[in-house]
Amino acid sequence: MNKKIKKIAILTGGGDCSGLNAVIRAVVKTAILKYGYEVTGFIGGYHGLYTNNYWEMDMKSVSGIFHQGGTILKMSNRDNLFNYRMVDEDGNVRYEDVSDVAIENLKKHDIDALVIIGGDGTLTSARDFARKGVNVIGIPKTIDNDVPSTEITFGYRTALDHIMESLDALHTTAYSHNRIMILEVMGRHAGWLALEGGIAGSADVILIPEIAYDIEKVSNHLIARFNRGSHFSILCVSEGAVPKGGEVTVKAVDKQKPDSERLGGIGDVVAEQLRQHVKPVTGQDIRNTTLGYIQRGGVTNTFDRVLSTKYGAHAVDMIAGGKFGRMVTINDDKMCSVPIKEVVGTGETGETSRGGARRVDPNGDLVNTAKDIGISFGD
Ligand code: F6P
Repeated sequence: MNKKIKKIAILTGGGDCSGLNAVIRAVVKTAILKYGYEVTGFIGGYHGLYTNNYWEMDMKSVSGIFHQGGTILKMSNRDNLFNYRMVDEDGNVRYEDVSDVAIENLKKHDIDALVIIGGDGTLTSARDFARKGVNVIGIPKTIDNDVPSTEITFGYRTALDHIMESLDALHTTAYSHNRIMILEVMGRHAGWLALEGGIAGSADVILIPEIAYDIEKVSNHLIARFNRGSHFSILCVSEGAVPKGGEVTVKAVDKQKPDSERLGGIGDVVAEQLRQHVKPVTGQDIRNTTLGYIQRGGVTNTFDRVLSTKYGAHAVDMIAGGKFGRMVTINDDKMCSVPIKEVVGTGETGETSRGGARRVDPNGDLVNTAKDIGISFGD
């Protein structure tokens, strides 16, 4: 055990997902019970680190939060302290590097190590704080399950449960009204949520970003199904799905976020395309439902409670072992770690972290299994 460590801090950044509180609980409990560390929580992600908004945490702070979605420490996905948005009295906007203010705050609190829980934007800043000498440990977080170097992120399986339950629920209306029902799910440019959620929710068509779809192939599949006597169909469509030769559907652009494009709307696009291609043949009505933020919330499921606990406890073991500048990973069910820069890139060649996102293999087992049982990807 590293004797020099007395006090650690923790913050959550980016967008929320189920399991964050379970990670916080595991970090606090392991720190206090196993190593006797003190724990400070910064509130509101990097913004709290900058404004010195903090909470001295004890065992009571994490009591009763294990199952709850969200984060008791709050979070933000727009506070990059290395390029921080400042607005003067006249409303003029400028961007400044305020990371030294954050480092001063860590010194004020005598913090020896900082656990940063977040997605690629948050981890990119974690890498940069590590470069400035802060003892950082990163923990990956996203429902999208697209972080490289680790085989699964917490929050993903709980999100899958929401997708499966939603598809189950949509089946009843689809069946009763002989309709084609579409469920648009999240995932950005990775199709894991649509793929595994779609298989579990018994979708007839799954559209994912990794396999460009041809609307005629999708339509023919649905018409053939109708002609076989199945008068309803279910589609699970990833927000990042792309038509052959087309573009991803962007709902909004927010320049203050590291991922400035907010995806969404493809479910309605596909619905309209099917109204033109399928409805004239089968007469079926087509409806889209966008599942949205429900996927990120709710009670954390069994798998994610255990996974989050493993991630949190291992982060503190890494602090004790002096393994800084690294992100906790899980591979073959074993906790390990990799340098954060291996996950988000070095930032030196201008590469973007999303370029390295872990995406679905279009020729992989999961896609092939889905195809084996007659699910169409529109390819
Ligand atoms: O990365 C997680 C995620 O939920 C994506 O699936 C989705 O595209 C995005 O975040 C939405 O972000 P925001 O909270 O900014 O709308």
